[in-house]
Amino acid sequence: TSGARVPALVIGTGYGGSVAALRLAQAGVDVHMIEMGMAWDTPGPDGKIFCNTREPDHRSYWLRTRSKAPLNYFLGFPIDRDISRYTGILDAEDFSGITVYQGRGVGGGSLVNGGMAVTPKRENFGAVLPSVNAAEMYDIYYPRANAGLGVSSVDPAWFDSTACYQYARVGRKHAQRSGFPFVFVPDVYDWDYMKQEAAGTVTKSALAGEILYGNNHGKKSLQQTYIARAKATGRVAISPLHKVTSVAPAAGGGYTVVIDQLNTNGDTTATKTVTADRVFFAAGSVGTSKLLVKLKATGALPNLNDEIGKGWGDNGNVMCGRANHMWDPTGSLQSAIPCAGIDNWAAGGAFAEVAPLPTGIETYASFYLAITKNPNRAQFSWNAATGKADLNWQTSWKQPAIDMAKTIFDKINAKEGTIYRTDLFGTYKIWGDHLTYHPLGGAVLNKATDNYGRLTGHPGLYVIDGSLIPGNTSVNPFVTITALAERNIEKIIATDL
Ligand code: FDA
Repeated sequence: TSGARVPALVIGTGYGGSVAALRLAQAGVDVHMIEMGMAWDTPGPDGKIFCNTREPDHRSYWLRTRSKAPLNYFLGFPIDRDISRYTGILDAEDFSGITVYQGRGVGGGSLVNGGMAVTPKRENFGAVLPSVNAAEMYDIYYPRANAGLGVSSVDPAWFDSTACYQYARVGRKHAQRSGFPFVFVPDVYDWDYMKQEAAGTVTKSALAGEILYGNNHGKKSLQQTYIARAKATGRVAISPLHKVTSVAPAAGGGYTVVIDQLNTNGDTTATKTVTADRVFFAAGSVGTSKLLVKLKATGALPNLNDEIGKGWGDNGNVMCGRANHMWDPTGSLQSAIPCAGIDNWAAGGAFAEVAPLPTGIETYASFYLAITKNPNRAQFSWNAATGKADLNWQTSWKQPAIDMAKTIFDKINAKEGTIYRTDLFGTYKIWGDHLTYHPLGGAVLNKATDNYGRLTGHPGLYVIDGSLIPGNTSVNPFVTITALAERNIEKIIATDL
């Protein structure tokens, strides 16, 4: 309600926000979480909460009238379709040189992501978060995050026998024949549930192509883990379809937070003002960066330093497909949950997930999402003329990522006598270089904030999401975002409250 005063307000309900809410509530602090997306707790007319990747409807995209699938072509034909405008679950947010995919709703990215839960190799951690004590992270906070998220790995014997990972076994064979280490990738999906899907005893989710627009069963999103535990404390309230637009010092201490209430058409139906003693920015790398550059430039938070908006990276994401021979079918039934990767980080700067193409038909294609050591970093800045935040990324900045991914796939193609698919991202286009799933940075730890996420110049304001991480995690990011949030909130509770 407008005019209320809250001890702790959390902007966003993704990984950082959920960790902050749970730990603050457990320490006895009442928390109010503000989320611009929907609650995603009520089935639609078809009896399902989430729609399928093969039949995107209004639930699929955030305020779009046409779907914008990351893999937008098949056999050279565009596959996007018209949808009605709605506060759907996946935001394909366009900046000048890149489309940044993000989850919208209670649970943030955990609603739409593949659930791949990867802890970086310890020897790579120094480059990921140079100011953080690695021993503490690997002894305490990574284990805490993995336990809190419910991370586990596929049963290797089942992997070897199930039809739904034929595509990953082909990926393994080709990786190993070219001398690359093949690794299983842990996930938050319930593997026992997936076994039952394959056995035909439960409703299919991963085996029915559910992924990008939400999983109706099997995947443990934050709604089933951190957020469920936070709600169970009785100290956490969540307001979905509410978007924070301003945070500024309040006359009597604390911060005045301005919040727009949205309808499912994206229109503002009410504007509310609350006062918060402490505010945690957990709107994701893009959401937090956009808010902070605006609040600094417009004078709402004048003491923020010049690091705000800087150090943004795409985790080196680039996608590609390979065309296999007829004797290497990848299967018409593919689990939408990836479970395997090819590790060429040390030698070539690339870690590639063996990704599904859950089209329901045999495609003879191998599909990959590579995470690379792309060194390019972009910056958010406030554009007063348009009233929006700009990001100065350029599409050509993906070239180092492509070169690193090629250290894996050029070699595999040469060994197997195969070629790249050219029909998945356009007509005769090999590389999916127009997007990222892994935005990171914009309010970098120990630069825009102190070494625990306290924003400089404004006591009581904290950043606790992926914007703290300077552009790259060497693997999929959410375990690192969660572990860093666990570390920072522990320190903040111990010393600031
Ligand atoms: P996150 O983006 O999760 O949450 C921020 C929340 O804040 C959102 O719910 C947003 O709606 C809300 N918000 C933003 N602005 C707001 C405002 N002004 N007011 C109120 N609310 C606001 N990672 C991984 O490790 N393994 C994987 O398999 C994948 N796969 C994957 C697939 C796809 C399709 C995507 C899009 C992403 C992934 N990721 C992933 C990335 C992962 O999901 C991502 O890194 C994390 O969700 C980021 O967590 P944060 O807590 O930083 O923000």
